[in-house]
Parts: sequence; structure tokens; C-alpha cells
Amino acid sequence: MNAQNNQPIYVTQPSLPPLEEYVDYLKGVWQSGILTHNGPLVQELEKQLCNTLNIKNFVTVTNGTIAIQMAIKALELKGEIITTPFSWVATISAIKWEGCTPAFCDIDPETLNINPAKIEALITDKTVAIMPVHVFGNPCHVEQIEAIAKKHNLKVIYDGAHAIGTTVNGKSVLEWGDISATSLHGTKLLNTAEGGGCITTNLDLHEKLKRIRFFGHDQNKDIVEDGFNGKMTEVHAALGLANLKYFDEVLADRKHKYLLYRDALQANSKLSFQKLNGDGCNYSYFPVIFETEQTLLEAEKKLNKQKIFPRRYFYPSLNTLGHIVEYQPMPESESIAKRILCLPLYKNLQIDDIEKIIRLIA
Ligand SMILES: Cc1ncc(COP(=O)(O)O)c(C=O)c1O
Repeated sequence: MNAQNNQPIYVTQPSLPPLEEYVDYLKGVWQSGILTHNGPLVQELEKQLCNTLNIKNFVTVTNGTIAIQMAIKALELKGEIITTPFSWVATISAIKWEGCTPAFCDIDPETLNINPAKIEALITDKTVAIMPVHVFGNPCHVEQIEAIAKKHNLKVIYDGAHAIGTTVNGKSVLEWGDISATSLHGTKLLNTAEGGGCITTNLDLHEKLKRIRFFGHDQNKDIVEDGFNGKMTEVHAALGLANLKYFDEVLADRKHKYLLYRDALQANSKLSFQKLNGDGCNYSYFPVIFETEQTLLEAEKKLNKQKIFPRRYFYPSLNTLGHIVEYQPMPESESIAKRILCLPLYKNLQIDDIEKIIRLIA
């Protein structure tokens, strides 16, 4: 789909494998008759994810929101969780659904991640954890955050919904923190349509997460945990396995297109870009920051006229969702949320469409 054949261009399109390759996996499902309950494809996907990402453990689950809830549940947290207002609403809804309260910490307006220098001032006797987000796949300052958490005896859960393929010092960022939660949603670099995962290097927590995912069952099917149903199905795991074969290609393609956008648009002094922390970002999104909300709206209108639909993401800043949380002013996040637009970026996006978008914006 592209502007040449007059089809709309959306901010993203899911990466899909050749249909036959997915069907091959499904034939196995039909033969085995196993649809769920930690079936062979789920186990194979978890194994291959560990190999591909070079990590020790991966518990697949139904989606990234459940992955965050399971992380909170596994760590038995009750109290305030310091988190960022510049995220998708799932970050705070997961916190609230687990009976905890989000306490917002403003962001660094350059990296767009939680500002580690502002965390300590927010710690109270009710604080139990810190939940930073690797925004747009840009890794947080994990060492600084770990030092703060250790000093104050707090848990760290990373919302790594965007962070599959992101590295710090050459290693997956998903192994930082007590638990990381990631998303395998259709819009992510690797997808199982809907899906997600919990990653921890702590084997006891890993086993506990597996029990929580499966109604609290242990190996003998005794119910030993306050669990629920977070199981990924074989049909979803099959899509993940078929997609995983192309993961490196998808990563390389994103980086190439990200750099095309950035190299062309950075000549425009009225635009600014997320400052990447190190060289391990997975380039999963291409956000542009405008000088004012007005100029963003003008650019968006211009693109929409050409059937190009970028996305205001993340917008609005979560601290302003008065029906969900109590308002606490977060000037940096509120300002960025009003001025940021994610441009189309996906595997099937044509280079001449990127060039057209660049011309329209510049
Ligand atoms: C930062 C962030 N956290 C959590 C989620 C929730 O993931 P899922 O859609 O898989 O539930 C998303 C979804 O896009 C997200 O962007």
C-alpha cells in the first residue's frame, strides 16, 4: 500500500510472514489438537525468543498489559509505583488494576524517558517500586535507576512494551530490573497479533510467573498461587514463530528508514528528535517533536489531505487523564505530548512514500 496507488498510509502496519509459512505451523496445531495450555509452539517460541534475544527466560502471555499486571502480582506489590506520565495508558491501568497507585515522575524532554534525577524526591514510605518505560525502544538509564532502587529497597519493573530488540552495552535491555514486561502486539517489531511476555533472570520469579499465568497451578496441577489466565495460545505462538524468522530483517529495515527520515528532517531547525541513549535503540518508531502544537496540527492536516495518517503518540500526557488519575502537574511530559507526532514506519512502507512525507513536513 502506498500513496502511488492511492491507498491510505497509516502510522504502522503489522509485519506478517508469508502466509504458507504460518499455515505450515497451523497444520501442526490441527494434527496435535493442542490449542493452548503451554503447548509445544508456545514452548518453542519461548526457546527461540531466548536464543534470538540472548536472554535466559521468557514467559509468553496474552498481551503486554497482562504482562505488567503479572509482574506486579509476582512481586506482591501494594502501594505507590513511581512511573512516567509519557506512556500508553496501559502502564497506569495495569498498576491500578493490581490495586497500586501510580505516582508520576516527569520525563527528560530529550530522551523522553523518566528523568532519573527526579525519582528520589518522589519516594515516600508508600513507594514500593519504580516502573520506567523504554519509550519508543530508547533504553532508560538503567544503571542509575538500579542504583536508586537498591538504595531505597524498591523493586523495578520495566514496561518494555516497545523494547524487544533494544540493547544496553550489547545485551537485551529486557534483562534489567526485577521483571521486564514486553508486548508482542500487532504494531510491535515482533508480533503474535496480541501477545506479550515477562522476562526475569530470577528463576524463582520466573517459575512463579509461569504459575500465575496458569491459574496458579504448580507442576502437579495443585493450585498454589493466586493466579489467573494469562496463557498464550498455540495459534498466536505460531504467528510469533513464523514472524521471528524475519525479525532481523525487520530490525534492519526500521533502522534504515528511521535514519532516512532523521537525516532529511534534521536540516529543519524547527523540528527536534528523541535523543537516543547509547546505540541500542531498536528504532521502532519515528517521533518528530514540533515547536508548538499549532505547527504539529498544521503538519498533520497537510499529511491527512494526502491520505497519510501519522499518530499523536503518546497523547495526552497520562497525568491529565482526570477520570483515571489525580492530576499532578508534569510540565515536560505535558509539553512533549502536545507537540509529538509519530510518522509512518513499517516494513512495507515504500521509500518514495517516506520521501513524500519528508517533503510535506519539511
Ligand atoms: C508503553 C506501553 N505499555 C504497555 C502497552 C500494552 O501492551 P499491549 O497492547 O500488548 O497490551 C503498550 C501498548 O502498545 C505500550 O505502548
